Amino acid sequence: MESGRAKSINGEVKIPGDKSISHRSAIISSLTKETVIIKNYLYSSDCINTIEVLKKLGVSIEKIDDNLAIHGKGVEGYKEPDDILYVGNSGTTMRLMCGVLAATGFISVLSGDSSINSRPMGRIIEPLSSMGASITGRCNNTKAPVIISGSNGLKGMVFKTDISSAQVKSCITLAGLFADGITEIIQPEISRDHTERMLEYFNASIEYDGRHTKIYPGSTLNGKNLYIPGDISSAAYFIVASLLLNNSHIIIKDVGINPTRTHYLDILKKMGALIDVRNRRTINNEQVADIESCTSQLKGMEIEKNFIPNIIDEIPVICVAASYAEGQTIISGAGELRFKESDRIKSISGQFRKAGVNIIEKEDGLVINGKKEFNPSGGTFESFGDHRIAMSLAILGLRSENTIKILGSECIDTSFPGFKYELKKLLN
Ligand code: S3P
Repeated sequence: MESGRAKSINGEVKIPGDKSISHRSAIISSLTKETVIIKNYLYSSDCINTIEVLKKLGVSIEKIDDNLAIHGKGVEGYKEPDDILYVGNSGTTMRLMCGVLAATGFISVLSGDSSINSRPMGRIIEPLSSMGASITGRCNNTKAPVIISGSNGLKGMVFKTDISSAQVKSCITLAGLFADGITEIIQPEISRDHTERMLEYFNASIEYDGRHTKIYPGSTLNGKNLYIPGDISSAAYFIVASLLLNNSHIIIKDVGINPTRTHYLDILKKMGALIDVRNRRTINNEQVADIESCTSQLKGMEIEKNFIPNIIDEIPVICVAASYAEGQTIISGAGELRFKESDRIKSISGQFRKAGVNIIEKEDGLVINGKKEFNPSGGTFESFGDHRIAMSLAILGLRSENTIKILGSECIDTSFPGFKYELKKLLN
């Protein structure tokens, strides 16, 4: 795609369903013994891969109009797949499904694209092995493809880890549903808690409080119909666009505002952003609201390290805001960014520098010296097949006098299929 100078952005933005909640809605519904109707499921390539994986495991799934019907038969209703389970680019599908499949008695092989097969999987293989799962992976059990040969019963455990990752936590939580005792997970910082909320909503016996999750096995999951709120991470690109462009004002309705995901709004507000969150309500144990934002004067700031898991997916677009903010923005303690769909520290620093941003790469973060009158240089930029890099470059380009061409921007379909169309529709 191409990006370049826009005058303003105005109107109501249509944000598709939340990616993290969509994955969980399909997976967790398949573990119930009911038909669950899911409204506003995200039909992006990542979430379609979750559906395809579940279908290969024998789960009956129908699309009725735009809704998804998952006919759950419990994990015992899963059958051995006769082919590999292909997760594409989706780390959430890979890691959460490993947790569920660890409880089965059959062989499954999970693989993905070149990015997924180079990302760290030891972080789930190790704890699942400790629970008694037969699970191995390429490169001495650190990478996918991952082979699961079932288990002779999983054991509950206390898993204290130094990685704050919702995918790892959710993997072990889902395995814990089928263990013979209590499973406790303790992480150093708070990561997103959608798995815990959905399991609680389905009446699982679960306790969670920030860094600590405790799952009691043996409870029957009562499936209930679900509505997936708009994705707060996808909303971030439009919010930042509205802050940077003159005479801009947008409204985004029905967005998820789970507190484990919204810290980027607080950061942007501290930078000077005019953002208003209204009409707060709770749907299916998740908080939802409408968000309004408009043209703002931004200044740089130092971002606290203990909130990194909360803003992990928005750091690329926070860097866009920081490029146009007067003064220095410092991001540290964000080494996890190197293990995402691309090495995001390297992708951001390389491409933003090429656009003329004064940016310094650190081992675990980035330092940006922003300028309010910044005018990015044009040219051809690389997305590295990473949706969040592609969308961030598109927003960075909106105040460029030159054309910014983004290579490989099809990757945006992994999380936000209508992104280009929606952006074009609202720009003047
Ligand atoms: C996700 C958790 C985060 C996030 C990813 C989605 C999830 O990954 O970056 O986009 O759905 O649980 P980590 O848990 O690896 O940090």
